[in-house]
Amino acid sequence: MKKIGVLTSGGDSPGMNACIRAVVRRAIYQGLKVIGIRRGFSGLIEGDTEELCSRSVSGIIRQGGTMLKTARSEVFKSIEGQKKAVKTIKDLCIEGLIVIGGDGSLRGAYTLDRDWDIPVIGVPASIDNDIAGTDFSIGFATAVNTALEAIDRIRDTATSHERLFIIEVMGRSSGFIALWSGLAGGAEDILIPERKTNLDEVCRKLEEGRLHGKRSSILVVAEGDEAGGAFEIGEKIKKKIGYEIRVVVLGHLQRGGSPVALDRILATRLGSAAVDLLIKGERGKMVGLVSNQIKLSPMEYAWKRKKMVDLAFYDLSQVMAS
Ligand code: F6P
Repeated sequence: MKKIGVLTSGGDSPGMNACIRAVVRRAIYQGLKVIGIRRGFSGLIEGDTEELCSRSVSGIIRQGGTMLKTARSEVFKSIEGQKKAVKTIKDLCIEGLIVIGGDGSLRGAYTLDRDWDIPVIGVPASIDNDIAGTDFSIGFATAVNTALEAIDRIRDTATSHERLFIIEVMGRSSGFIALWSGLAGGAEDILIPERKTNLDEVCRKLEEGRLHGKRSSILVVAEGDEAGGAFEIGEKIKKKIGYEIRVVVLGHLQRGGSPVALDRILATRLGSAAVDLLIKGERGKMVGLVSNQIKLSPMEYAWKRKKMVDLAFYDLSQVMAS
């Protein structure tokens, strides 16, 4: 193997740059050339590429976002789009590809490998941490810390004004960010899609807290919760117990920012391992971290298996909130 390609795809996540850096420097260390593909599969279709050297990735380990840009490509879903992408790969003599992204991106990677015979290794990167086959995806730790910082700040105001705050965090249809930031931030309750939400029960616990002297409360709500978005939940709670409520939707604040050490290290380990695995002849798989060990898993796990949150975290949060 003489030349590999690397791209980032789907929602950006903090640590993607650290992963690109790891791929580039490991590949060069192993005597390979590296082609960076801009804007994910869209760049592959359009031939938007550049050769990367060690200096191309200088200083990016601490930067959020992705220097290669990212996109969610609809065109790549068509056979025509895929043909164009494969032509770019062949024209540039790329012999293996590393795809850094979430489940949709890994699906695209799998198509290239299985249907078009391009050796691909996937690296899980998503703030949602919803990718099966790895304990953590790149960007999750940073997103949790970002949400936590917001929760801590809001706690000051909630306490000073004796209010109920409802904070909505991202996660698509999973509750990892909510559960981790809620537990770390001492939230009174955490509403996640993996656990049935009973608003009467939520209100009962809030009232009980008041009886025990709590003058302020924070509910952390995952965006995918069945009870609705934070504003809707706020309206429903107001009707039931009439508290003074404020709602904060953290949104894309959680996607950017300098990656924390855990994400930089995860990205460096996974990116480096992905290069070594391609050289060894591995393909069609995702590299992940399981019990702190680098593990390969079938790429299909990313969209065929549901990664469950640990509900013991929820139980713990409730004991701590008492
Ligand atoms: O998958 C990452 C994520 O930030 C989800 O948490 C969120 O639901 C979605 O992407 C938002 O996507 P977009 O940036 O396209 O609005």
